[in-house]
Amino acid sequence: HKGKFKHYTAKEIYEQPVSIKNTILNRFIKNETVYFSELDVKAEKIFSQTEHIQIIACGTSYHAGLVSKYWFESLAMIACDVEVASEFCYKKILVRKNSLLLIISQSGETADNLNALKISKNLGYLGSLTICNSKSSSLVYESDFSLFTCAGIEIGVASTKAFTTQLTVLLMLVAKFIHLKSKNFKLEKKIINLLNILPNRIEEILKHKKSVYSLAKKIFDKKNIIFLGKGEQYPIAMEGALKIKEISYIHAEGYPIGELKHGPLALIDSNVPIIIIAPNNNLLEKIKLNIEEIHSRGGLIYILSDPFAKFNKNRNIIRLPYIEHLISPIFYAIPLQLLAYYTALIKGENIDQPRNLAKSVTVE
Ligand code: M6R
Repeated sequence: HKGKFKHYTAKEIYEQPVSIKNTILNRFIKNETVYFSELDVKAEKIFSQTEHIQIIACGTSYHAGLVSKYWFESLAMIACDVEVASEFCYKKILVRKNSLLLIISQSGETADNLNALKISKNLGYLGSLTICNSKSSSLVYESDFSLFTCAGIEIGVASTKAFTTQLTVLLMLVAKFIHLKSKNFKLEKKIINLLNILPNRIEEILKHKKSVYSLAKKIFDKKNIIFLGKGEQYPIAMEGALKIKEISYIHAEGYPIGELKHGPLALIDSNVPIIIIAPNNNLLEKIKLNIEEIHSRGGLIYILSDPFAKFNKNRNIIRLPYIEHLISPIFYAIPLQLLAYYTALIKGENIDQPRNLAKSVTVE
């Protein structure tokens, strides 16, 4: 039921504080250790041996995988590669030493993922682990181990609460690896503390809908939009672009901001909104240099940031609440979901059921 909302997509965006709460529920022992009731001793043994993670996914779930690569590598010190399932299946697969196959899927029925899992059997992976929102799905049935997101049923074709709960499970999984391998218990505890405050942080950002709506009014009639990020925010920029394409029918690209000068700068004029995710972190100074490059070419810049980052005068800045760096990708996904939603709303599109798309893609 849509309740007070006009669309399932809006309802699901607003459900995120609760879906994240449900996803972390009963998964922390004394707020010190991550616990997954789905996993047995065998799984933990495999995790302890794991030196590489191969992630396979499609669409939004692929973007969750890309964010987690930054986390696996910088926090758990485990090498990680991420590929879209439809590509993974049709090329030579070189299995790294002590590699774990990790599939991320909301539905658990995506044909490309099932195909990838089938092809990977007997290639020498330590095992296969699926992160899924549907406990009774084919992927869960076919893989060795599964972890569940507790987003509840997602009806809108555009994935929203499934994405942020996937990121939540991935960050818990990173903490699990930290526990088993590097044994940095302080870091594990820090991750748990941050995941505990995340639902409230998301409540806060959802209150900023007016400034996101004003931005939607400025971009709804445009033909192209570029989303830019750096580090963990680069996959979030890609996700923002996917949401806009999918429900607002505007062509959009998600790009790493430093890559702009290698081609896309040629696209910049006053008709192409450039939406930049730029919280106050150690990458901000570099991002600012890139912003000036765009500005000097007449770009129409909108910056999503926090109360602390300082920018040149006369930049359009949407000031969002402060967020701790570790959980900031989950946080910045929310205004971009709202932006796509409001843009589609202003355009009068069929938001829950975008043309040509199905909720679960069961054909190759
Ligand atoms: O069910 P899955 O997570 O495997 O689905 C993967 C993609 O088809 C899905 O994320 C798609 O990109 C969404 N509609 C994006 O919002």
